Parts: sequence; structure tokens; C-alpha cells
Amino acid sequence: MTKKVMDYKQPALKGTLTVPGDKSISHRSVMFGAIAEGKTTVSGFLLGEDCLSTIDCFKKLGVTIDVDGTNVTIESNGIDAWKEPTEVLYTGNSGTTTRLMMGILSGTNLHTVMTGDASIGKRPMRRVADPLRQMGAQIAGRENGQFTPLAIQGTQLEAMDYTMPVASAQVKSAILLAGLRANGTMIVREKEVSRDHTERMLRQFGARVDVVDGVVSFEGGQKLTATHVNVPGDISSAAFFLVAGAIAPKSEIVLENVGVNETRAGIIEVLQQMGANLEVKIDDETAAEPTATLTIRSSQLQGTTIGGAIIPTLIDEIPILALLATQANGKTIIRDAEELKVKETDRITAVVDELKKLGANIEATDDGMIIEGPTRLHGGKLRTYGDHRIGMMAAVAALITDGAVEIDDAECIAVSYPTFFDHVDAVLK
Ligand code: S3P
Repeated sequence: MTKKVMDYKQPALKGTLTVPGDKSISHRSVMFGAIAEGKTTVSGFLLGEDCLSTIDCFKKLGVTIDVDGTNVTIESNGIDAWKEPTEVLYTGNSGTTTRLMMGILSGTNLHTVMTGDASIGKRPMRRVADPLRQMGAQIAGRENGQFTPLAIQGTQLEAMDYTMPVASAQVKSAILLAGLRANGTMIVREKEVSRDHTERMLRQFGARVDVVDGVVSFEGGQKLTATHVNVPGDISSAAFFLVAGAIAPKSEIVLENVGVNETRAGIIEVLQQMGANLEVKIDDETAAEPTATLTIRSSQLQGTTIGGAIIPTLIDEIPILALLATQANGKTIIRDAEELKVKETDRITAVVDELKKLGANIEATDDGMIIEGPTRLHGGKLRTYGDHRIGMMAAVAALITDGAVEIDDAECIAVSYPTFFDHVDAVLK
């Protein structure tokens, strides 16, 4: 772990950035390319540690993957040509890799063992293992499949009609990917719609999928056909600069090629509700994953309430939205966000404890937090808990604090945004 001291002295932020590729879509591009027969090409791939873990797992399954900058090529003869790995599949810090792989591996004819880092070892996996078991999957792990290491004996799966108890794209995607190898008609019902990159990509790879009013259905046993995937910039990475530009004085930051899929773009709605000076220029609405240029300028902000159906569309942005709320006039209430407790770390506790160290007026609740603003923040020594998004929240806070902010672990940020500090430097001038 490398400490980092950030003493930025409240600069104006100016510049144009292209944030790295979307993490969720990058993972899926490799997974789909490995399942499909033929040669899949990917551009704009995120070279973050999480996505590199996904590549590493598929290499161990015998899939040929070539990385050339942000262009990735995946060559596969389909799932039935994968080989049984002699080694444990290591998923690092990545919940998406671990959970989606559970769904994919359950329907193979292979025995596999998966494990990840200390954070993955604490994250709940029964939310995926239990529905997969209803389809016939054979999954073993600590506490009856709740925790890694997990051992999966692939088998023939049966389709099911499943109603999601939690709004989770990872759970939904694991089940949908298992459904590709199942007999019968798969139906997955969501009360609140979580990110739909898997559904979109299934279609891109030639599968016939229906989505009507939060109900996804398709025939099991469909084959995927290799294609090209263009990964847009990650709105969850752009979020840090959207907030930085809004709260730093005399600032203007332009973010190009940001993915604005409506199941991911809740932060745009919240910024607008809070009165942020934000311009959204959509590039191409018809793309498989639409993109936009976002321009953010220093803003006078009002507190707001964030809860209900919007939560899954901005779940990863809540740490940075909490920092934003410390600079808004009045009270911001974040509720219905108990899922934060099972992210890379417990993000309710982490955000509240760390922002308090900088002088924020913030309290934890059972399902979120309440923030009273505006508060002038001071410097301090913060913990990241090894969580990339807590590390970046601390770095953005450092841009507006009186005095320096130190973080205990700067490296964890490479999980999703390896060029983050280069981009901070680029807007500092
Ligand atoms: C992801 C889904 C979200 C999100 C995670 C990536 C995905 O998790 O927090 O960073 O790629 O499907 P849940 O689906 O568990 O909410």
C-alpha cells in the first residue's frame, strides 16, 4: 500500500478529458467474446485491474486473448471448446468477474475453482449461487456457497422463471448467462431495473431477447456470434470529474464519449435536480450503448433526496455524490441504498467515517446517509479500505479542502481508473 499526500490548494479545474472505458461493458465484452464462436474485437477496453482479472480467467480456460492498448481481440471456438483449467481462477477485487463467471461456468462441462482478494472473500455469493442452484447448478463454497473460494462442477441447466429479490445487475447477468446454456425459456423479472448491458450485448452478439416492463425473456440454448464491441467511457469514472468541476471554483471540465445508458446515468438527473451547471450533448442515441459529451462548470447546489428506483442507476456514484452534497445548500437524504453495505467495502460506513474526518456534517442511516451542507472541508488522513471509489472520493475532496488530504492506499484506484491521477493533473492547470 502506497500512501499519497494531496495538497492541491483549491485550484480552478479546466480541460477536456476522455475517461477510460466502461468497466461493466469491458468485462462483458471479454465474457461474450469467449462464449461466442469466432473472433470478437473490442475497442475502448478498460485496462483496469478488474477487467484484467476477467481476461486472465478466460486465458486459463484456453481462450486466446490479445491486448493491444485499449484494443482487445478474443478468439474462441465456443464454450464447448474451453479446457478445464489446472489452476484456480483468480478474480482479484472484481465482484462482476466472480458473479458473472459463476453463471457462465455452471453450464459448462468443466470443474473450476474461483477465488479473489480479501474483499471478495467477504462479499455475498449466495444471491447468485441460490438461483443458479434452482437451475441445477452445482456450486460449493464456504458457508454453503456464500463465500469464495467457490468450486463449480458444470452441468446441464434447466431454464427458470425468476423474480429478483434485490436490484443487482450482477445477479441478473449471472442468471441470464447461465440461461444461454439451459433447456427451455428463461424469464427474469426485476422490480427495479438494474443496468442492462448484458441484455444489450446479448442482442449485439445475435441472441433473440425480449425485454418488456422489466421482464427479460429468451429461449435457452442460443449460440452467440462474434462481433465488434465499442466500449464507451465509464460514467462511473466521469462522475468524479463531474463532481470536481461542480464544487471547485471557476472550473469547466469537458468529458467526451461518456456512456449515458439510462440504466446507468442517474447521476445526471441528480446533478440537474441539485442545480448543477451541466450540459449534456448526446452523440449517437442509436448506438448499442449511447454516448454524450458532458460539460460541467462550477455550480451553486441545492440539497436533494435520492431514493427509490433511481438508486440502481447510480449505486456506484453514491460515495462521490455524498461529497457533492457536503457543498450543497441544505439537507441531502440518500435512502434505499442498503446495497452499499455489500460493495468493495461497506460504503455507508466508509463514506460517513472518512468525510467526517474532513469536517463534513454527515450521518449514517440504515439504508443510506444524511448530509447537511454547505461545509468548508479541512485536510486529514483518510482510509480507502482498499476501495477504488473511496480513494477517488478522497482525492476529489482534496481539490477543495483547506490543507492536505492523505490516503493510505493510492494503488487501489487502478481497479477501475488507472489513469485517474494523470487526469487530475491534466485539469489542474
Ligand atoms: C455491476 C453491477 C453493480 C455495480 C458494479 C458493477 C455490473 O453491482 O455496483 O460495480 O457490472 O453488473 P450490483 O449489480 O451487485 O448492484
